[in-house]
Amino acid sequence: MMNRILEPEIMDIPDGALAYAQADFSIPNQKFVDKLIELYKYNLNSVLDIGCGSADVLIRLAAALPNVHVVGIDASAPMINIAENDIAKAGLISQIKLVKACVPNLPFERQSFDAVISNSLLHHLPDPMVFWNEAKLLGKKGATVFIMDLFRPESTEQAKMIVERAAANEHELLKQDFYNSLLAAFTLEEVRQQLMDAGLSHFSVSIVSERHWLAHGIL
Ligand SMILES: C[S@@+](CC[C@H](N)C(=O)[O-])C[C@H]1O[C@@H](n2cnc3c(N)ncnc32)[C@H](O)[C@@H]1O
Repeated sequence: MMNRILEPEIMDIPDGALAYAQADFSIPNQKFVDKLIELYKYNLNSVLDIGCGSADVLIRLAAALPNVHVVGIDASAPMINIAENDIAKAGLISQIKLVKACVPNLPFERQSFDAVISNSLLHHLPDPMVFWNEAKLLGKKGATVFIMDLFRPESTEQAKMIVERAAANEHELLKQDFYNSLLAAFTLEEVRQQLMDAGLSHFSVSIVSERHWLAHGIL
């Protein structure tokens, strides 16, 4: 099994942020939103998306549920700028609020949210426990936590194959970032261990695509 190779944590190089925002993640992102709504629609009045990037997931969620208000945070100024534009274009500024902030120590009161969601953030973090602890702190008692991320393939060859299968026509910068992300990602066993360490071993964790795992449950 390959060890994790960290990639830069914050995506604050403007060209890299733009290449990411322009890439087509519509299939996994829509699946993420559909499953979240299917399982937890009753619990989505106030939603926090940690590491929201260009806010594609939040835009899909807000468009699907017009009464829901969501907050996205990201530590990258270029990502927040792109997200602001895309949210305005989608006509969703009244439903989506963005805050530039860095995990841990997000600027919210404890137990503020009905749901804490995150897509493709965890592999960026040198210490993933800061994320699980932040989610526990900011979710209300009974809140939904709903997290998807890449899992680390068994070899660099497999990582290259996944990039070619899923992103053949994307920008070179995106392909390089994607490859680095796969190598920085956690295995399912590592995620299970993190959940045990965080006192969240009752969460469900499963592989949901050739490159993603999904973990979710109630605090
Ligand atoms: C791969 S992108 C995922 C974006 C988005 N969630 C999506 O699904 O498209 C990861 C994002 O996490 C942000 N990020 C990384 N570390 C962070 C931290 N400690 N606090 C806040 N944001 C962080 C990066 O700047 C980047 O925008």
